[in-house]
Amino acid sequence: MLDPADPAFARDPYPFYARLRAQGPAACVPLANGSSAWLVTGYEQARAVLADSRFSNVPPRGAGRPKADSPAQRARARLGRHMLNTDAPDHTRLRRLTAAAFSPRRVNALRPRIEVLVKELLAELGSRAVGGTPVDLVDGFAFPLPVLVIGEVLGVPEADRADLRAWTYRVGSPTDALPAGAVDAAWVALHDYFEQLIADKRARPGDDLFSDLVHDSAEGGLTDGELLAMAFLLLFAGYETTMNLLASASLLLLAHPAERAAAEADPSRRWPAVVEETLRYASPLEGTTWRRATRQVDLGEGVHIPAGASVLVVLAAANRDPAFFDDPDTFHPARYLPAPGRARPAPHAAFGHGPHFCVGSGLARLEAQIALPLLFSHLPDLRLAADPARLPYRPGLLVRGPQTLPVHLDGNSTTR
Ligand code: HEM
Repeated sequence: MLDPADPAFARDPYPFYARLRAQGPAACVPLANGSSAWLVTGYEQARAVLADSRFSNVPPRGAGRPKADSPAQRARARLGRHMLNTDAPDHTRLRRLTAAAFSPRRVNALRPRIEVLVKELLAELGSRAVGGTPVDLVDGFAFPLPVLVIGEVLGVPEADRADLRAWTYRVGSPTDALPAGAVDAAWVALHDYFEQLIADKRARPGDDLFSDLVHDSAEGGLTDGELLAMAFLLLFAGYETTMNLLASASLLLLAHPAERAAAEADPSRRWPAVVEETLRYASPLEGTTWRRATRQVDLGEGVHIPAGASVLVVLAAANRDPAFFDDPDTFHPARYLPAPGRARPAPHAAFGHGPHFCVGSGLARLEAQIALPLLFSHLPDLRLAADPARLPYRPGLLVRGPQTLPVHLDGNSTTR
């Protein structure tokens, strides 16, 4: 029985996944809500499922609990019609246009702006830590940075960034965590804001990536409805994942001072290795989005997934498959250092695989490789202000990362 809401499971799901993987590369698991799902935990089978067109990304009609019609519900439905919820050939067209906008040249051109945003955030964070009180690195750094960067990608004017940050926070929070109506109001505000943004970009294109998408006329370009869902997908696929990468990497380095020192001593080789190893060891997306088997599929090793089954590819488990990664439960960035004469390690699956492979992987890597060195060089006395083994983690099977990360910024305060 798997209870994704269990705080102990959220903090450390790895022993559960290891037991499951030891029984076979995929298994049908009963869930605490009374349903069941196929969880794919083997590395090879995870990649096979993600590349196999017999598994569909289109949510079945009427999926989830029925919801009363309301403006918020209509906003959610329109924003949810994005390419991660489509299969070929619809997906192929949307994907081609998006991948062109996210070319390495376009993404690398964001470097100077990302550096400025990181430095501004660190200055703001420093000013919050008065009198030795701990500050939350998730709230002050790991959450706002990806939202600000996606604001750059979407060409959101600076004056609107605080609104974008507030709506994103509300829409991403569990309904019962905020006052009644606040989450619904944020869905509607985000929907209306993106509609207006698209109209503005059509009238006055900027030099942002999203303007390229709005004005790309190849294959007829994207419709307003497709652009609306795309803006939402970029925001949501990009912020929570990168937030978890930044938070987990910061936590791992604070808990492994020797790895931090090694990265600072050999920055050009070691920081990229820290980022890759964090992606493997602490996969920010615990599982991919749900797939549905359109027919029975033989995955090998005696595993037959029946037609109609809901399937979750557990990236966090695949990335710790001992058949592909030596000593998988150890955080060991050096495994990703280039070493002549040594076989390259298996690529981690943190960005997925196959047709839906992450469009923003280059941007996420760039962001982390800029933000982490700046964080540690600007705040050299950074220290944990809580026991890492007791930090609360985000519940659920989709994303994984600490909910809060209390730190001291100066050298004088004592760790609780
Ligand atoms: C550490 C950060 C990130 C991680 C771990 C991550 C991971 C992933 C994974 C695993 C998928 C595939 C999901 C599936 O197959 O169900 C995906 C898809 C996607 N990601 Fe990312 N992502 C990250 C950052 C970003 C960023 C910064 C952006 C853009 C701003 C982005 C945009 C997308 C989009 C648009 C898709 C859908 C691609 C498609 O359907 O073809 N991601 N991501």
